[in-house]
Amino acid sequence: MRKMQLIDKCFTKESLVTLTNSLFSYICFSKLDNMYKQVFFIFILLFSFHIINANNIPDWGSTGHRIIGVIAEKHLTKKVKKQIDKLLQGQSLAFVSTYGDDIKSDSKYNKFYTWHYVNFPFNSKYEDSDKNPKGDIVSGINKCITMLKDKNTSQEDQVFYLKFLVHLIGDLHQPLHVGRGEDKGGNDIQVRWHNKGTNLHRVWDSNMIESWNMSYTELANNTRDLSKQQIQSIQKGTVLDWTYESQKLAIQVYKSAAIGEKLGYKYSYNHFGTVQSQLQKSGIRLAKILNDIYG
Ligand code: ADE
Ligand code: ZN
Ligand code: ZN
Repeated sequence: MRKMQLIDKCFTKESLVTLTNSLFSYICFSKLDNMYKQVFFIFILLFSFHIINANNIPDWGSTGHRIIGVIAEKHLTKKVKKQIDKLLQGQSLAFVSTYGDDIKSDSKYNKFYTWHYVNFPFNSKYEDSDKNPKGDIVSGINKCITMLKDKNTSQEDQVFYLKFLVHLIGDLHQPLHVGRGEDKGGNDIQVRWHNKGTNLHRVWDSNMIESWNMSYTELANNTRDLSKQQIQSIQKGTVLDWTYESQKLAIQVYKSAAIGEKLGYKYSYNHFGTVQSQLQKSGIRLAKILNDIYG
């Protein structure tokens, strides 16, 4: 399992294509028995599918991340909004919110891959658990905040860590980004969504959101009206508190569906409220972090 994960991270799609092409030609022209050739072909095919799937593990879809960006912008102070506008040269938080996923296709950024999630046992504290040496979403968010607060951070790095922070605060609020490592936060739990194959992680990242067929601005404007006190209460706490909150929800999400289960409207009616509330909390908390950094 560990070896396979290592292989996943070492291959880019381009190098995989080159490797499979070479292996195919080598086996075609080798003097191997036909039966052995067939076995090799099947092995190469399965290997390619595994790597392509492993590299395509998604996050909140772009709609989810953009909703969070729109909500966050509504809660920025005027001064902070101005500073962020200047840094992002007019690009909105919604626009830059998908940056963390966009860079996944560039192997230059492979080292950030593990920053999108954290897995630690449901019955233990993050602080006491074995940490991923490559980093996780908690250490990733803290790194972004430290870099943005540091006066010596270059302009280029400021833009990078700001865009990444916007993305990661979003991911932190998708419960399955604080899910179990064994099933990659539900990515390995195959289910059906309105009769199409998907997995539990993707149902929470995007299937439920996209099935409304609404734009991210429409969905961002479709959230609960909150009082000042409610907003302040949501903004209380630390990144770690919000991590535990997501993990608690993840425990419920795992109980909500069985392997192979057909999910659809009923599932949405039961769980879309949690999705909306997590998106709203995420935007409000992102604004709090940005107001603290730039205020
Ligand atoms: N995305 C990719 N791997 C993951 C994991 N182990 N947990 C949560 N989300 C993930
Ligand atoms: Zn995800
Ligand atoms: Zn992500």
